[in-house]
Amino acid sequence: MRVFVAGGSGVLGRRLVPQLVERGHQVTATTTDESKLGMLKELGADAVVMDGLDAASVDEAVAGAHADAIVHQMTAIAGKPDIKHMDKWFATTNRLRTEGTDHLLAAAARHGSPHVVAQSYGNWNGIREGGWIKTEDDPLDLFEGTPANVGMRAIAHVEESVLAAGGAALRYGGLYGPGATDDQVTLIRKRQFPLVGRSNGYSSWVHLDDAAGATVLAVEQQARGVYNVVDDEPAPASEWLPYLAKCAGAKPPMRVPVWVARLMAGDVAVAMMTEGRAFSNAKAKRELGWRLRYPSWRQGFAEDLG
Ligand SMILES: NC(=O)c1ccc[n+]([C@@H]2O[C@H](COP(=O)([O-])OP(=O)(O)OC[C@H]3O[C@@H](n4cnc5c(N)ncnc54)[C@H](OP(=O)(O)O)[C@@H]3O)[C@@H](O)[C@H]2O)c1
Repeated sequence: MRVFVAGGSGVLGRRLVPQLVERGHQVTATTTDESKLGMLKELGADAVVMDGLDAASVDEAVAGAHADAIVHQMTAIAGKPDIKHMDKWFATTNRLRTEGTDHLLAAAARHGSPHVVAQSYGNWNGIREGGWIKTEDDPLDLFEGTPANVGMRAIAHVEESVLAAGGAALRYGGLYGPGATDDQVTLIRKRQFPLVGRSNGYSSWVHLDDAAGATVLAVEQQARGVYNVVDDEPAPASEWLPYLAKCAGAKPPMRVPVWVARLMAGDVAVAMMTEGRAFSNAKAKRELGWRLRYPSWRQGFAEDLG
């Protein structure tokens, strides 16, 4: 297949492009940065510069690729995590998920209607009622009235528009693997990522290589609908955070009461750490035939950060 990877130079794109190439696909991958074109070519892709927020730039890149499939992996999250002001931290990413998605879908419709697979999010953001583990039939939590709301709406926009176009939205768990957790690990090493109260909120994780593997399957099978792309072991923060710190060679995380965390890091951080709802991967395994190389973050953190 001819596959166009918007955001091919990112932490996930860099693992996805080689997997696609290895499976015999012809890949066009994008970056906004000319200096990364060589790296994309080394991974085996045709490389193009594209600004996902510029409709004309997207149209030109998609037109030139003659793609059977488009994969949307454009985000701009790197930098110091600022969960208290998530709207500002995620401002560009939110635009890439709204305007960027619209530009890609419009270009797709104009140039042969390739199938679309897009990055969504399924880490700690399941609806905060009922059980701790959510399926694709459960809604995501929009975190109304918090600084996370605009980002959660942007994720909903990706899912709704891509599904309406007959594509698939992949709810990746917390990504880890080369380069993916550097910003969090920096905070953990400075002991600025504490446990909050009982820290009984759940998260789902997934290694970059497994996330890329599920993405290849969704492309090849022209999957439609939502898929949770997470590992086998959703876990509360009280379990994964001390283990992540240990694997990263950091001191154990501090523990702060809920009211202190609310004051310092805001409502979203408290919700994530104490009310988060994680995700089940049963559908991706069943329907896509997805097999994980890292079924648990326990093995993955130890190998990646140890
Ligand atoms: N589910 C998750 O847990 C999740 C999801 C996403 C990211 N993250 C984390 O966030 C951090 C880094 O992610 P990141 O999003 O900053 O960097 P990234 O992975 O380097 O970026 C993703 C891709 O988006 C592209 N991009 C950025 N702005 C664009 C624009 N205006 N138009 C077109 N493409 C654009 C980048 O291209 P350039 O070559 O131009 O930079 C890159 O190819 C990592 O810690 C990562 O794991 C986590």
